[in-house]
Amino acid sequence: MTEQQANIPVLARSGHSGHCTRCLTGLPFSLVTVDSSKLPLIFYCLGSLDLLGTLDTATKESERESWRNDIWGLHAGGAWGSGFKPSWYMTGSDTKNDPQRTYETEFDTPHMIVTYTALLTLAILRDDFARLDRRGLVTFLRSSQREDGSFTSDPTGGDADLRLTYCAFVICALLNDWSGVDVEKALGFVRRCRTYEGGYGSAPGCEAQGGPTYLAMAIFRLTSDSPNFLNAVERRQTLRWLLQNQDCSGGFRGRTNKDADACYCFWCGGAIQILGATELVDNVALASFLGNCQFRFGGIAKAPGEHADPYHTYLSLAAISIFPPSESAGGGSWAIEPLDTLINAKSSTAQWAKDHIPSKSM
Ligand code: FPP
Ligand code: ZN
Repeated sequence: MTEQQANIPVLARSGHSGHCTRCLTGLPFSLVTVDSSKLPLIFYCLGSLDLLGTLDTATKESERESWRNDIWGLHAGGAWGSGFKPSWYMTGSDTKNDPQRTYETEFDTPHMIVTYTALLTLAILRDDFARLDRRGLVTFLRSSQREDGSFTSDPTGGDADLRLTYCAFVICALLNDWSGVDVEKALGFVRRCRTYEGGYGSAPGCEAQGGPTYLAMAIFRLTSDSPNFLNAVERRQTLRWLLQNQDCSGGFRGRTNKDADACYCFWCGGAIQILGATELVDNVALASFLGNCQFRFGGIAKAPGEHADPYHTYLSLAAISIFPPSESAGGGSWAIEPLDTLINAKSSTAQWAKDHIPSKSM
């Protein structure tokens, strides 16, 4: 798309900041049925404010303190190690005196995605991680890996797709400790998720999708010293599939024959960046699409005309951080804080986590 054709709308920064602040303060904390959705919601809201650079002005220190304490309320440990559990209300207090129990109860079991999300959210909130059971975290990772190399969402079972491998690898990278995982076995599982299109499905035999393709690229890069973790033929095929997902709207779709959706601007765009080919993305067309996804009362939606939500707002801002439109194309309002694409957090937040999560005494 040429600069003249694009006509990029202004990025409504204060509107997006307001959307995320409203979603944070309007959380229905009394509603037990949405308990396990609260942490991801907090992560996407705070992550958006972090990327916009408005976290300190849009929220009060007393609120940040209270969110930190809420998240530590999810810290759970037992025979299979420790991490963060999905829900505040599902506790095993009724079985605490049962001598047969091997764990706090299934509801007190740490969950891999929740643990990843909790660690990053605490880093956004600049927690000192003094309360973290680091050894327990390594034990939890070890207890969650299966014979085929994949990871389950918790040591008792659950989903075992690329999301879990990615979260396990990011946790190892933040801890700077890979002793809890069999890296080669895990990479074998990831390789089996590759499809004939060059993208990756969430598990072997699944259709290629932008989300798992990002996860696969990040997993490979987190454990590779070199950006050449695919051979030349594979790299070309994967890049070709990712790039053809940027359609004529300027946005990316997640699967062949689907419509563009703002979140895939990050999932596909992030994968392209990890493969070292950012220059092959049309930044102006991308910003034009995301500009049209802006909801008039703030926040960014999955597609033009839809309602905004914190998930699509965060991932759109993350995509803009990687692919900023030039000022000459009208992108002056689109500057976003730098992103750590592998960890999927603002660079200084990922660095905070890497500096504060590892412990020399481990
Ligand atoms: C929708 O499938 C798929 C998603 C909303 C998730 C895709 C993203 C990931 C797998 C990465 C998640 C990462 C972590 C760390 C949890 P759909 O079939 O509704 O959408 P589609 O039609 O666009 O493919
Ligand atoms: Zn989406």
